Amino acid sequence: MNTPKRYLITSALPYANGPKHIGHLAGAYLPADIYTRYLRAQKREVVFVCGSDEHGAAITIQAIKEKTTPKEIVDKYHALLESNMKDLGISFDIYHRTSSPIHHETAQEFFTKLNNNGDLEIKESEQYFDEANNTFLADRYIIGTCPICSSDNAYGDQCEKCGASLSPEQLINPKSTLSGNTPSKKKTTHWYLPLNKHEDFLREWILESHQADWKTNVLGQCKSWIEAGLQPRAVTRDLDWGVKVPLKEAEGKVLYVWFDAPIGYISATKQWAINNNKDWKPYWEDKDTKLVHFIGKDNIVFHCIIFPIMLKLYGNILPDNVPSNEFMNLEGDKMSTSRGWSIEMEEYISDFVKKENGGDMMVDALRYYLTAIAPETKDSEFTWKGFQDALNSELVSIYGNFVNRTFVLMHKLCNGKVPPLHEEIIDESDKKLIVDIQHSKAAIEKSIESYKYRDALFEVIDLARKGNKYMQDKEPWIIAKQLDESGIPTKEAQQKIDNCLHCCLQLTANLAILINPFLPFTSKKLCFMMKVVDKMLDWENAGKFDLLSVGYSLRAPELLFRKMEDEEVTIQIQKLKEKSKKNMESAAGNPSDKIDNSIKEKKPIIQFEDFSKIDLKTGTIIAAEKVEKADKLLKLEVDLGSEKRTIVSGIALNYEPENIIGKKVVVVTNLSPRKMKGIESNGMILMAEENDGKLIFVSSDAANGSNVS
Ligand code: 2FM
Ligand code: ZN
Repeated sequence: MNTPKRYLITSALPYANGPKHIGHLAGAYLPADIYTRYLRAQKREVVFVCGSDEHGAAITIQAIKEKTTPKEIVDKYHALLESNMKDLGISFDIYHRTSSPIHHETAQEFFTKLNNNGDLEIKESEQYFDEANNTFLADRYIIGTCPICSSDNAYGDQCEKCGASLSPEQLINPKSTLSGNTPSKKKTTHWYLPLNKHEDFLREWILESHQADWKTNVLGQCKSWIEAGLQPRAVTRDLDWGVKVPLKEAEGKVLYVWFDAPIGYISATKQWAINNNKDWKPYWEDKDTKLVHFIGKDNIVFHCIIFPIMLKLYGNILPDNVPSNEFMNLEGDKMSTSRGWSIEMEEYISDFVKKENGGDMMVDALRYYLTAIAPETKDSEFTWKGFQDALNSELVSIYGNFVNRTFVLMHKLCNGKVPPLHEEIIDESDKKLIVDIQHSKAAIEKSIESYKYRDALFEVIDLARKGNKYMQDKEPWIIAKQLDESGIPTKEAQQKIDNCLHCCLQLTANLAILINPFLPFTSKKLCFMMKVVDKMLDWENAGKFDLLSVGYSLRAPELLFRKMEDEEVTIQIQKLKEKSKKNMESAAGNPSDKIDNSIKEKKPIIQFEDFSKIDLKTGTIIAAEKVEKADKLLKLEVDLGSEKRTIVSGIALNYEPENIIGKKVVVVTNLSPRKMKGIESNGMILMAEENDGKLIFVSSDAANGSNVS
């Protein structure tokens, strides 16, 4: 493919309803930033837009929780998110907001054009209504049992447990989160986007044209949506918070948040163009623009099915790619801000970035680990131990070590100046180093352009590893011991030292360029140490071997990365557990969670035959230990009379292993075996969950192995 004339890069607009965690950062912001920084270093024309998504029930629900107005909520969290992203080096060209007038106008104009062109359908339907609050209920205000996985806390639009996309009608035993009552149904009129009319277009555009270049996880989700048959989707809502529907007959209605939010990319581009005296139109209308949406997997349908239909109808260009990531879990469980099982960006910044001098190095440390474990093809897992290992044994020991040794030796053995390269004694290993740099550059380009940032970063570290090996093989500190009669290294020895350190310094300059898209603060620091301007980081310079001029004096080495101590890991894990416990406790006092509990008590009726399929037996816990890298899990040995079983149970936050030996329990013994953290669990211990989330053993004094029925 020819190089596009310009690029428009977008990251999913985060809801301004609270802090966002590092899983969000890894999913939609960091990869987009890496890509954009790379394109900028390539001197391509690129605009990187994002902003706060300030509409929808996510905002109004948070306002109720914080007993304030939606406006206060979006103002507060927009400011927080904007500053967090900046602190973590996410280099948006604009971080906009959907509450801005230019966005409201743009979204209304978009709706009007589609409506006037006859692309929308108007339908009357019955929707859930909360009589006590005299309001129609947005999908997020209705919770009930998921028809797919039976989770009790599914929302009217999505089950967060199994990820199913739902409509409120599908929920079993729906309840209003406002009043806790069962909602009634009331007639209302809405505007619909008939997705079904665009199936052929989608099949051709996604499943045929993009079969080869889109990620398989994205294609898979699109395929199953299209195959399941698309339905008309309402693009308006009965709400008073949002972009007003620009029609007289639509009093009291706003645009559905998922209709207006992606238009936020367009309004952000417009605002960027105004700020920079540029024209926004080519970015959305010229086919020579490459549009790339970076998102998390829960946003695939909106960016690959619904928004492209809107763009096509409006006459805009379509995304060239939508490189969605899967989810990043944390210490053995799904990351969740509401359950407190998360590392918020804000928390990380205050613990590691603002607290220390040179906190920027910890920004790069986080960027490094999140990229190294990016959930590019499947869910991945953040652990504090893994973070420590990546920092200590890769960044510090490989990259940092190479740069540090090079600078220290250059100061010690070459008077702090770039030594000459003596052509006559250049050997095979020097030549190989140059070839290695060029190969790495090509490999990194290929990986970044195909959205494989893990591979690209690995390649950079591997090059630094080669640098270490090169220096280790050359041993300039040993050569320096070959002295002449006046006590200085012999001429031959000095020439060998010069060549080695010349090569290592040119490699350092290359490493600064190659790591720049990933760890920009590190590259900046390297430029300072090498006394070169940032322009040296232009991508075209990678692969060159004359980046630092002979005789040029360089600064003393600075610490690029610091090691993470075991104690810091322990503190963070402890903090996570305490936060999660606190959140569960406060959730127990929150009315909307009480509703959850009342729903929990009312599972659908089952027949006796269903119950009799479960084999319940009494037993005694005879051994218990923590499961490595999984804070919630304990590995238990249970005596069931005629046999002993290994069972992995999620009770570690409530019980210490040593306190539960001898505990009588009831076990589901015919549950199919399941592997957790590599351990096969053969059964399940029954636990009762109290309102505050505390887990209590269900026990019986009967002899081990007794049937429970
Ligand atoms: O899932 C979310 O957090 C949404 N606010 C993402 C919106 S992306 C785009 F459409 F604006
Ligand atoms: Zn479900």
